[in-house]
Amino acid sequence: MLQKINFPSGTVNFFFDSSFDELWQDYDKSHVVVITNEHISKLYAHLLKGLRVLVLPACESSKDMHTIATLSRQLVDLKATRQTILVGLGGGVITDITGFLASVYLRGVKFGFVPTSLLAMVDAAIGGKNGVNSGMHKNILGTITQPDFILYDTRFSDTLPDDEWSNGFAEIIKYACIFDAELFEELAKHSISYYQDEDDEALNKLIKRCADWKIKTVQEDEKESGIRKLLNFGHTAAHAIENLYEIPHGKAVGIGMVVACMISTDVAGLDKGVVDKLKALLAQYHLPVKMKFNASKAMEILKMDKKRVDDNIDYIVLEKIGKAAVHALPFDVIEKALTAYESNN
Ligand SMILES: NC(=O)c1ccc[n+]([C@@H]2O[C@H](COP(=O)([O-])OP(=O)(O)OC[C@H]3O[C@@H](n4cnc5c(N)ncnc54)[C@H](O)[C@@H]3O)[C@@H](O)[C@H]2O)c1
Repeated sequence: MLQKINFPSGTVNFFFDSSFDELWQDYDKSHVVVITNEHISKLYAHLLKGLRVLVLPACESSKDMHTIATLSRQLVDLKATRQTILVGLGGGVITDITGFLASVYLRGVKFGFVPTSLLAMVDAAIGGKNGVNSGMHKNILGTITQPDFILYDTRFSDTLPDDEWSNGFAEIIKYACIFDAELFEELAKHSISYYQDEDDEALNKLIKRCADWKIKTVQEDEKESGIRKLLNFGHTAAHAIENLYEIPHGKAVGIGMVVACMISTDVAGLDKGVVDKLKALLAQYHLPVKMKFNASKAMEILKMDKKRVDDNIDYIVLEKIGKAAVHALPFDVIEKALTAYESNN
């Protein structure tokens, strides 16, 4: 199902509930260079026959400027021109790298995504944000450039490890918390195995529902000066923790959402019971609700956060399930919550 969706900076062709091979009806294979990782290239070698493919190691640490420089040289060797279309086939690491590379190679070439992880399907592939890390700092270099297309083929989820399903559900639970109380209730009734069912209908509906939330938000505020900030719910603490401990993004977001809810009970009138409700839902989707971390070290990283303004950070808090807001919070309020989380574990 092709849906052409307009964003302020461009139109994106969304191929929902689709199949990888359908791409070649609209895009000329001879112009395509696929960027993927070593896992995906082995698992899906049959889909990649006859295509030019650049393969990266499967890890977050490949998301850096060194990789961008290496890929640029490989593109030059392949004689890639402005007609070239880069296709990122993989999880959020691959879509972020591909989007950034395409935005800067020859000052910009066409690109599209085929997200293969649940997290990339519901979040990372959508919205035009791309980028790489530098040292301890996540996504500190990047652009906002919309892809030409995003194609959803949920058959890729057949090979997704259980842990990656959980990571994807962290972002799905995020949408439920900030926008969609009904979704929160629906998730509470089910479990990962319900969505892993062979009949992909429930999964496709869930992906579409989350994608629609992200699309609507980015359409309204592509440059993140207003409502798009809400999508950072759970992410401020998460970025600090995942850089310190190298835990996967989804798991860090789960912990970050609990910290944000703890803060919200103090500053946004959130009912204290929501913290326990959220913890129960995270546990149901096999996400950690306990973790030992060094709050003062996390705070040091947090002070470098992109959302910092003077000695405050624009923090996303919950007023109730389904309703979020941005509060400029002083560092000491955040540090108090991090310390409270740390000592409760
Ligand atoms: N640009 C954005 O708006 C945005 C939003 C959220 C997250 N992100 C970024 O996304 C990244 C996290 O994405 P992720 O969770 O997809 O991680 P990832 O890309 O590292 O993928 C996770 C793991 O799953 C494997 N995998 C993916 N699809 C598979 C499949 N179909 N079968 C088997 N294995 C598969 C990958 O090889 C990898 O080992 C982070 O770098 C984060 O910063 C970006």
